[in-house]
Amino acid sequence: MCGIVGYTGTQEAAPILLEGLKKLEYRGYDSAGIAVLNDNLLAVSKVTGRIANLCEKTADGKNCPGTVGIGHTRWATHGAPTDTNAHPHMSNDGKFAVVHNGIIENYIALREELIQKGYHFDSETDTEVIVHLIEMYYTGDLKKAVIRMSARLCGSYALGVVCTDEPEKVYVVREASPLIIGVGVGENYFASDVTALVSYTRNAIYLDDGEFAEITPETIVVFNPAGHPIIKKISRITWDVQSAEKGGYEHFMLKEIVEQPRAIKAAIAPRIKNGDIALDEAELTTEYLESVNKIVITACGSAYYAGCAGKYAMEKLCRIPVQVELASELRYNDPLIDEHTLLIVLSQSGETADTIAAMKECKKRGAKTLAVVNVVGSTIANTADYTLYTWAGPEIAVATTKGYTTQVSVLYMFALYVAKKMNRIDKEHYEKLLKILSTLPKKVQETLDMNSAIPALAKKYHNADSMFFIGRNTDYAVALEGALKMKEISYIHAESYAAGELKHGTIALIEDHQPVIALCCNESIMEKTMSNIVEVKARGAEVLAVTFKDNQKMVPLADDMIFIPKMDAIFAAAVEIVPLQLLAYYVAKENGCDIDKPKNLAKSVTVE
Ligand code: AGP
Repeated sequence: MCGIVGYTGTQEAAPILLEGLKKLEYRGYDSAGIAVLNDNLLAVSKVTGRIANLCEKTADGKNCPGTVGIGHTRWATHGAPTDTNAHPHMSNDGKFAVVHNGIIENYIALREELIQKGYHFDSETDTEVIVHLIEMYYTGDLKKAVIRMSARLCGSYALGVVCTDEPEKVYVVREASPLIIGVGVGENYFASDVTALVSYTRNAIYLDDGEFAEITPETIVVFNPAGHPIIKKISRITWDVQSAEKGGYEHFMLKEIVEQPRAIKAAIAPRIKNGDIALDEAELTTEYLESVNKIVITACGSAYYAGCAGKYAMEKLCRIPVQVELASELRYNDPLIDEHTLLIVLSQSGETADTIAAMKECKKRGAKTLAVVNVVGSTIANTADYTLYTWAGPEIAVATTKGYTTQVSVLYMFALYVAKKMNRIDKEHYEKLLKILSTLPKKVQETLDMNSAIPALAKKYHNADSMFFIGRNTDYAVALEGALKMKEISYIHAESYAAGELKHGTIALIEDHQPVIALCCNESIMEKTMSNIVEVKARGAEVLAVTFKDNQKMVPLADDMIFIPKMDAIFAAAVEIVPLQLLAYYVAKENGCDIDKPKNLAKSVTVE
């Protein structure tokens, strides 16, 4: 969840490092630091708190002269957020500095060994063992010292290393944590993700696990784990600076909510050709699909809830059992996975540690893996057998919105694709559903347009102590994500509940004025949910119902209404969630919350 950046070239490094760290701050932060090489000396500046504090301390980099440097934003895992625990970490002889994203799992044993050998530790971090190992192994050849150091580490790490003896060089190492090299002209960069690079270059080299590189202003040499040079392709970063900026919106989250019609269109339109779905990146044969006896969807957080939403369409259309598993559970459950399991891995960042681990566990057991991810070149994308990118563009707000709706849309598309491939759907039904799928962007736009009253609703509900989100079937799946949105940005406790379950205990909690958000966008069971609304109303609840704009039956039942365009429930979740995203956003705004960077949260949970 940390962020690392680095530069070597002819410009002053510090301002470039600080700008890169600002772009990474959304990944999670509690401290930050930079190390800059000048006249063969390393100058290190570290602070707790926001990057702004570091800019102030370094006078926007002016008092850190030099053209080579590394930087870091930290989300504490080992050791409290303090200046001392902030990165970069220095060797005892002052020759080396290191920044690290990840977790060194064997750091305690290494720390004891290094202390016994006379090395002094300043911090409580796992990272500090790295810089002392380099010092210990350094005999004048930094590359050899980096190789020997890496061989001692267990865990996940994306590293940046500088050395006063080799002032133009920066070494980077990648193992289970993202690391991208930005290719410039007469200067080169590295970072944890492209948002820190895109202002300077759109040419990127994505390192894979075990690889490391020696970077100078003029050269980039990538090595395999054995230390042999390898050729890596240079990818083009298509995200432009504007798309990674706020674009005039007060928060990235609102910008990304409003971007959803475009994002969903980008996810599905290029894969619909001549009235048919073409998944060139995931050409699963009919023979293979016939051999699949279950589909397992695994993910974390909102991505897990996207899987819950996609499950209904997949089971209904493909007639294959679909189970949705939390990655943090699946990885340790000794899962019943084999070559007849298709594993679908959902992740916006493509770097979520639990999801990566669950995928690797299932691959070991023979499952074929299909990743549905947003970040190009991410670990999950590169590890899966097949990858369907969601093409949502950079998602900066910690609370995902377009990441979720594009994942759900891709799952809908995949379900329809498989159903046709397996002759489980007739031509007429296929064409009808394909048309609905194609209109999702328009339906989302209509939903955005018809819900200008949500800020007023937020003023009514923003003081709630708690909220219930209830629904059945596809509505229940949306209730899961709606509750998480409310919790993670407004800090109001919110519980999602299967509406039919309330009477089995939880209805005991319903008292006068208890807000209940009731999702009623599935006509097959709408009457049942309406009776649940009557039940909670009878106990004093204040009901905000989400339903189709022409559903007047609901009006006398609920206290407030939110409407979406009428549509088939099978593909409704990607539309139905939008007003709940807006409700959470405006409630959080009313409460003065830090919407894009909610407390305790990071955009990408790259550690367990
Ligand atoms: C969603 O709003 C949260 N930020 C979080 O639950 C997120 O969905 C989860 O951490 C999974 O992230 P991923 O999609 O990048 O794997």
